[in-house]
Amino acid sequence: MSPLIDICPLDELPPGARRTIEHDDLDITVVNVGGTLYAIEDRCSHDDGPLGDGPIDAAACTIECPRHGSLFDLRTGVPKTLPAYQPVETFPVTVSGGIVRIDVD
Ligand code: FES
Repeated sequence: MSPLIDICPLDELPPGARRTIEHDDLDITVVNVGGTLYAIEDRCSHDDGPLGDGPIDAAACTIECPRHGSLFDLRTGVPKTLPAYQPVETFPVTVSGGIVRIDVD
């Protein structure tokens, strides 16, 4: 089975937009930061906060956990500030035929 998961047409995910999907037992948020797409686990490694809902700093390429404020690097899932200290998962994003897909392999 293909590990590629369809998210949505690229037109529906313009810069500044985000979309969260469920795959198996994972929630994954895909965000468009100034035209670059990132996919990150929608669950903070500190206390399961809804990471995908957090504010994004485009210049730093981080997303902030809305629960206790840890900053995570959108590219790697590595936390840059406490209280989280374990990384969350990130997933490669591709666009093919105008469809945004993530690789969950
Ligand atoms: S749940 Fe995210 S920092 Fe605590």
